[in-house]
Amino acid sequence: MNALAPVLTPFRTLIREKCGVTFKNDALHVLEAAVNKRISTANLSGHDEYLKVVRDSEEELHRLIDLITINETYFMREGQHFGVLCETIMPELLSRKTGKIKILSAGCSTGEEAYSILISLIEKYGIGIKKRVEIYGVDIDRNVIKTAKEAVYGNNSFRNDERMLMKYFEPRTDKRYGILPLVKEGVDFQVCNLLRLPYPGELQKMDVIFYRNVSIYFDREVQSNIFQNLSNILNPEGYLFLSSTETYYHNVGILSLKECNNVFLYHKKISMGFDDRRKYKKTLPPLQPDIRAAKMEPSLPPVVQPKPVVVEKRRDARVIFDEALADAMQKKYRQSIAKLDELLKESPDFLKAYALKASLLVNLQEMDAAREVCNQILEKDEWNLEAHLLLGIAAKIGDALDEALKMFKGALYINATCWLAHYYLADIYFSQHDVPGAHREYGIALKLLETRGVEDHGLTYFPLSFPVEQLIHLCRHNIDKIRAQHQKD
Ligand SMILES: C[S@@+](CC[C@H](N)C(=O)[O-])C[C@H]1O[C@@H](n2cnc3c(N)ncnc32)[C@H](O)[C@@H]1O
Repeated sequence: MNALAPVLTPFRTLIREKCGVTFKNDALHVLEAAVNKRISTANLSGHDEYLKVVRDSEEELHRLIDLITINETYFMREGQHFGVLCETIMPELLSRKTGKIKILSAGCSTGEEAYSILISLIEKYGIGIKKRVEIYGVDIDRNVIKTAKEAVYGNNSFRNDERMLMKYFEPRTDKRYGILPLVKEGVDFQVCNLLRLPYPGELQKMDVIFYRNVSIYFDREVQSNIFQNLSNILNPEGYLFLSSTETYYHNVGILSLKECNNVFLYHKKISMGFDDRRKYKKTLPPLQPDIRAAKMEPSLPPVVQPKPVVVEKRRDARVIFDEALADAMQKKYRQSIAKLDELLKESPDFLKAYALKASLLVNLQEMDAAREVCNQILEKDEWNLEAHLLLGIAAKIGDALDEALKMFKGALYINATCWLAHYYLADIYFSQHDVPGAHREYGIALKLLETRGVEDHGLTYFPLSFPVEQLIHLCRHNIDKIRAQHQKD
């Protein structure tokens, strides 16, 4: 526990409540530096006096928020999202909408994301597209909005596709670049706290929302509140992009996840059809039968459950499963599969049993059979982590790298902290000479292995035959190799 934590606790709580940003212990130094800076600039006696001031003054709260937000951004970040916008979403919107298409960059920082949207659209459709779109950028931090409106950028904002971008900028004498007026006037920026309702009128009825690299600073409750707020301002059939490192636990049945050219995004369906209702129901926690009965008919005696049969069968299934797992550990794969088949005849919804069977089939190199079992899982639970991982592994072994990438990316939408998926992605990127991708993914896998250990791989059965130190070593070794290669080039 950080020694500073107690004195910073009330500031931490205030910031979380007002703008959603959550400070973990290892990031408390950021809050500490901001609070100290404000105490000294405002010439106050210390933390207690500053706490009173910041609680009473909206202006002071803003000053503090301006200091603590993390505004890292650059042009064309995760460029594949702009590709999907231009190639898939816009043609659909242009053909079905007569009015203007509204696009929001929520948590836009210094504006690079919003301008990248407009530049991509101009590149694809020509300058006339400006008449068909309205682009907005909002952020809680007043300083970044000021910078976005000025639209003058240094080298750090250009890390991708500079040549194409440079058409839209004028070099200045201070070695910075000013965006051309025709782009600048095409985006409307304003200060807005995504946590606080109501949003301004012009932010209603969006067709597309980019909400990328913002939710990572929030805890789950704030994430889900803001996700709900954003889905409320999204038009029916609208789309929402998250960054590929943000996970699908945002999806609480409000929007549905969709895959488009290996990019995952959310889609707001007009109304839920029968199939969707069934899927949505599946994600809700099951009601306890006795509570439900008690709530509906308080005066009736408790409902008698057909308990013995169900309980007995479940216990049997669990016992058989444990035996099958023990067989698997001893590498008695066929024996294990026979037990699982027996179990699944009786309990066809026991997903862990399918997953174990698929793992064993992968180990036996029976990829078609493994894929079939994984698809059975996905029919019952389309966001099953194990099925995604195993399909990815099977595809990678079969050299179907696009399919493997799709599956591992899907796995990370389900659980962003699955080191195994990061590790496989890194491997594939490396083989495809995608140096930044491989470097990033090995780095994440390494961090996860160091902080969470090897057990968090996501599979019921993973015959890991080497210790975590070796995996960590392997990641470091590959990162060094990439660096060395990069320096040579
Ligand atoms: C890392 S930047 C992301 C910029 C851009 N979306 C991108 O992906 O490159 C995160 C931004 O979210 C903003 N932010 C944090 N909390 C917010 C809130 N409650 N409302 C609006 N913006 C917020 C921060 O000020 C910061 O500029």
